[in-house]
Amino acid sequence: MPGSSRLPVSLRDTFNARAGSVKSGQLAALNVDLVRNIIFILFVLRWTRKLFYQLKGRGLIGSSVDIYTYVRRTLYGLFLRAPGVRTKVQTQVAESILKLERKLVPSGPGITRITSLPAQGWTEDEVRAKLDELAQMEHTRWEDGRVSGAVYHGGDDLMRLQTEAFGKFTVSNPIHPDVFPGVRKMEAEVVAMVLSLFNAPESAVGVTTSGGTESILMAVLSARNKAYAERGVTSPEMILPETAHTAFRKAGEYFKIKIHLVACNAPSYKPATSSISRLINPNTILLVGSAPNFPHGIIDDITSLSRLAHKKKLPLHVDCCLGSFIMPMLSAAGFDSEPFDFALKGVTSISVDTHKYGFAPKGNSTVLYRSDEYRKYQYFIAPDWPGGVYASPSIAGSRPGALIAGCWASLVKQGTNGYIDAAHKIVGGMKKIEAAIRTHPSLSSDLKVVGKPLVSVIAFLSPTLDIYDIADAMNDKGWHLNALQSPPAIHIAVTLPIVAVVDKLVEDMVEVVEDVKEKERARIAQGGSGKGAAKGDTAALYGVAGSLPNKSVVVDLAKGFLDTLYKV
Ligand SMILES: *Cc1c(COP(=O)(O)O)cnc(C)c1O
Ligand SMILES: *[C@@H]1O[C@H](CO)[C@@H](O)[C@H](O)[C@H]1NC(C)=O
Ligand SMILES: *[C@@H]1O[C@H](CO)[C@@H](O)[C@H](O)[C@H]1NC(C)=O
Repeated sequence: MPGSSRLPVSLRDTFNARAGSVKSGQLAALNVDLVRNIIFILFVLRWTRKLFYQLKGRGLIGSSVDIYTYVRRTLYGLFLRAPGVRTKVQTQVAESILKLERKLVPSGPGITRITSLPAQGWTEDEVRAKLDELAQMEHTRWEDGRVSGAVYHGGDDLMRLQTEAFGKFTVSNPIHPDVFPGVRKMEAEVVAMVLSLFNAPESAVGVTTSGGTESILMAVLSARNKAYAERGVTSPEMILPETAHTAFRKAGEYFKIKIHLVACNAPSYKPATSSISRLINPNTILLVGSAPNFPHGIIDDITSLSRLAHKKKLPLHVDCCLGSFIMPMLSAAGFDSEPFDFALKGVTSISVDTHKYGFAPKGNSTVLYRSDEYRKYQYFIAPDWPGGVYASPSIAGSRPGALIAGCWASLVKQGTNGYIDAAHKIVGGMKKIEAAIRTHPSLSSDLKVVGKPLVSVIAFLSPTLDIYDIADAMNDKGWHLNALQSPPAIHIAVTLPIVAVVDKLVEDMVEVVEDVKEKERARIAQGGSGKGAAKGDTAALYGVAGSLPNKSVVVDLAKGFLDTLYKV
């Protein structure tokens, strides 16, 4: 350690300097030495501190596992880039993307493509006819309740009312509250109505956003800005249950916040509060819980998270994007519930999607804060712009007033009784599927419910069969369920359109499971090892992806998918 051996020397020099026996040249050398020592000590302190928090947060075993995973991922990444391997991988990725393109982008002689503005504008009738054609393109039948999540009500009356609301406010934009006073009023009322469902204290406030992702981005931004302003945190970190929505990871990437993931293991599939507590350090800006989470529909232990957040004086965000208008109605609809909202004093913000179980048109959500002490940190204000003093509450500048009208109309049309009734039907539908999986003789031995779902989502895995084969076979029957990974599973987010066809869904599941079981038996009888019938898309993607230590191939595939979305 060069620094420590130098330290006494420089101290001696200091005394010499006091004695007045040093020349200015020596004095300069001494100062350089001193600065170097200080920098070295700071450097050592910094790394000791990092090491300390790593060991405190993840323990010796956890840290070793982290290192092992990192090394394995890096080495596998290098292997994928080795000559020979690389070209092979690239060819296969290109093939898969092409296959995807053929599926998503219609082609063939009958297809017309519009790639530049029509020189002469179309007639209204022409536009209308084309719109009809586009709406009727072959698709998975959400209208018949075939899609998990995605379309949350699909009721004709409500849709008509929403469209009417759009029509009355087509040109409106809340950025001009003096020009569109009705829109400003509706927006404020939407926030107030949502707040009233979450045991909000007198001080509570909120804003509306374009969706759950923006709500979450805003809550994270506010926590980051608050920590910077009040505690000087410049290397922010947040702690997420691994099941928290990806929007938090997006926020981490966008706003440069380090993320710690906490495992959510069987049987409860909830993160252990003790693991979260260990990961807290002076850089922590936010704790997160879901009510419920997207993958498994499980409500995290918000009560104990709240206690922890309160004790450590940290903000706690509860993601109720999915729970939205069902969570607050659970008890009234006659189901078990758990504390999750502002009634718990550690909860400082909640995201609530009006466009999920609030049945508002897509593009609408809210984020609520315990007080303006949190909300003020998400505002953007530019006092000195040549374009004028500029202030906006969230990411967007101009915003569609029509959507606000659509959202407001949906909320007041449904009313408390409408939402209680919907919660009753939707959670009832989930419970029906849960009961079938737990007790139906053809399902109970091969499928297993993940945790104890209380809301609208039910996830299940299979200890005996390839769950992705089941997803693919359900696909072939016209159902679109969500495939999950780690652990491999499927989930169904029950919506009103699904409620109407739950019996058919269970019937098809029984058939599919028996089919897959039969195929598996045949494969084993043939002494087959692995290579059975051709795998479906889900099995092909997740079957391979799940086993890869480095998912750069999956990243390439997903990028190809995004590119495909913009192909004419
Ligand atoms: C849907 C959802 C979100 C937000 O998603 P958006 O698609 O941006 O509205 C956030 N959290 C959970 C748990 C969700 O299910
Ligand atoms: C894969 O490995 C490479 C280098 O080995 C690394 O840069 C990359 O981040 C890894 N990607 C993923 C998705 O793990
Ligand atoms: C509805 O959506 C728009 C943008 O998508 C957003 O700007 C607005 O604030 C939202 N309003 C409500 C009431 O949620």
